[in-house]
Amino acid sequence: MQTLAQTLATQAIPASLAQLLQTLASTSVAISNAVRRGALAGVLGSTDHENVQGETQKKLDVITNEMLKDALRADGTVRALASEEEDFPVVLGDHGDYLVCFDPLDGSSNIDINSLVGTIFSVLPAPQGEVNEQSFLQSGRHQVAAGYVLYGPATMLALTTGHGVQLFTLDPQSGEYLLTNPAVSIPKDTAEFAINMSNQQFWEAPMQTYIGDLLLGKIGPREKSFNMRWIAAMVGDVHRVLSRGGIFTYPTDHKNPQKPYKLRLMYEANPMSLLVEQAGGKSSTGYQDILDIQPQAIHQRVAVILGSANEVATCLEYHSLDYSEEPEL
Ligand code: F6P
Repeated sequence: MQTLAQTLATQAIPASLAQLLQTLASTSVAISNAVRRGALAGVLGSTDHENVQGETQKKLDVITNEMLKDALRADGTVRALASEEEDFPVVLGDHGDYLVCFDPLDGSSNIDINSLVGTIFSVLPAPQGEVNEQSFLQSGRHQVAAGYVLYGPATMLALTTGHGVQLFTLDPQSGEYLLTNPAVSIPKDTAEFAINMSNQQFWEAPMQTYIGDLLLGKIGPREKSFNMRWIAAMVGDVHRVLSRGGIFTYPTDHKNPQKPYKLRLMYEANPMSLLVEQAGGKSSTGYQDILDIQPQAIHQRVAVILGSANEVATCLEYHSLDYSEEPEL
């Protein structure tokens, strides 16, 4: 089986990008080990700090953020990074071709229940001259690479450099990522959806109607039965979509009018959308392709609908209808 290094050598990408991806991959091996040792390494539980998102940081959020920061600083190809766990971008030096955005430990509420978590990353080109927050505000189409590492029963890396999506499995013996799926392809159709149903009463009319029709199964307008899954870690849900298709959504909701969206554009929605599109799927907010959004801030949140192309297209049809005449739901 090909190693990550051998696979990257077959892709038309700069040596500096291959080096950066190797650095991210080898750091994820160390993170995987820390996650795996769990309570034995004393890394479970919360800190008494909140991050910029107002969420209490888990110890592992802080540890993994520091591991990635240190590794990227030493790598030399990265000018600055933006992390879910950092209020502001962190400038690493004057040299380097890239900016990296990451969520060091996605799904961290799963840590203490020994369930799926992962690292998500997005690589953007660094502009000439001084780097600041503005430098990061590039649409997802500018990403030169994106991926995630899923710390599950096996540790897996999903990666795109714009040449399709490759899946690698970590060989715990050698510590190497080995290519286990050279061309991930998301089935166009699906009978599986992923959404946090507990927010149902707060969704907008298009999502209420769409999910309502899925739940009606064979006796509804879709005339087929759908199954539901929810891992509560985007890496886990997107990995299932890449593996066997499905539609995943965290839609707009009005539970907290100050926070109508949950997922972060720069280090969740954009990298996952690039992976999904490169694997033949589709991603949208309901009204716009996620990869076309012009970011306004590094911690910006967006509505996300992604997965099997035909099912996402069907969901978008519901968003193109006029609900103004509908009775209150
Ligand atoms: O962004 C954080 C995140 O944990 C995602 O990984 C996941 O999809 C979502 O939040 C889970 O949200 P909820 O806690 O509402 O199920």
